[in-house]
Amino acid sequence: NTVMNQSLAGAFKDDFLIGAAVNAHTVLSQRDLLLEHYNSLTAENEMKFESVHPAEDTYTFEKADRIARFSRDNGMKLRGHTLVWHNQTPDWVFEDEGGGAANRELLLARMKSHIDTVVKRYRDAIYCWDVVNEAVADEGEELLRPSKWLLGIGDDYIAQAFRFAHEADPDALLFYNDYNECNPIKRDKIYGLVKSLLEQGAPIHGIGLQAHWNLKDPALDDIRAAIERYASLGLKLQITEMDVSVFEFNDRRTDLAAPTAEMMRLQEERYGQFFRLFREYRGVLTSVTFWGAADDYTWLDDFPVRGRKNWPLLFDTNRQPKGAFREVVGLRSAE
Ligand code: G3I
Repeated sequence: NTVMNQSLAGAFKDDFLIGAAVNAHTVLSQRDLLLEHYNSLTAENEMKFESVHPAEDTYTFEKADRIARFSRDNGMKLRGHTLVWHNQTPDWVFEDEGGGAANRELLLARMKSHIDTVVKRYRDAIYCWDVVNEAVADEGEELLRPSKWLLGIGDDYIAQAFRFAHEADPDALLFYNDYNECNPIKRDKIYGLVKSLLEQGAPIHGIGLQAHWNLKDPALDDIRAAIERYASLGLKLQITEMDVSVFEFNDRRTDLAAPTAEMMRLQEERYGQFFRLFREYRGVLTSVTFWGAADDYTWLDDFPVRGRKNWPLLFDTNRQPKGAFREVVGLRSAE
């Protein structure tokens, strides 16, 4: 029918960008799907610190360049992911010559030169960077996760990262990106962090809500509350890594060869609700990126149980639109 023949990005062209996470081989294997349904891309792994900067004097941009070229050749937007994170960052960054812990001065110098090199290289390709990823602690009273960046530099490492990125490309939109972003406690911590960055005059322009969600969590009201709270800071918001797992968070079953009909029904309903909500915030919400393009490849196939298949996206394992696609695109054509 006509809904199933529409382009996803086309349906939302007046609302927000529609993106997908890709890597150097999925831009080949998922090429047609990407071109038809998405107008924005994010590198899933290939612009991360360990991918582009494996040793102090070695940068490896080949795969990242391929993604940048694909986006440019096809007129797609490109989000940069990510400059400063506790994960997928090589050990050398945090060590001094003697094998001890690098001090503040050395770490800041390395952070600056990494950001400078990577951001400048993609100045023409990338319009928006996840400058700092997942810096806020999930548990407990502490605001910040005790990462090697925090322990080595101190609380100001986040503001410094934003300053370095802004110096490297004054035109880029600079985002703070995090998960569990709708949990009320973490939401308030993220809000507090970004508010203090703004008060210090740090060049930050937006907050990324990763949106790794499932059939039950988070509740719609908590999503709305998070969007409202972040938007009250006057920043742009983007959904940066969306997927809707068919398993609830602590469900570790491994016996399903295909999603059940009930899972698919709930997933359709959830996706419909999410996109109805997103549309209410168009203007403030400028992009919705999925963490993958179709169910043939998703990081959730290895999380939290290695090798357990998941079906969290709008296109199936044959890259055909699912019922959830019909719900989402149907919203627009029903008007
Ligand atoms: O590259 C190696 C390969 O050489 C090796 O043979 C293979 C064997 O396990 O592993 C490969 O590395 C994997 C890498 O993805 C590239 O495929 C790692 O094991 C695996 O842990 C890594 O997972 C990525 C994860 O970040 C790591 O933290 C996922 O693909 C990626 O989707 C995920 O993305 C993150 C965002 O950046 C931040 N927010 C959360 C999101 C999901 O965890």
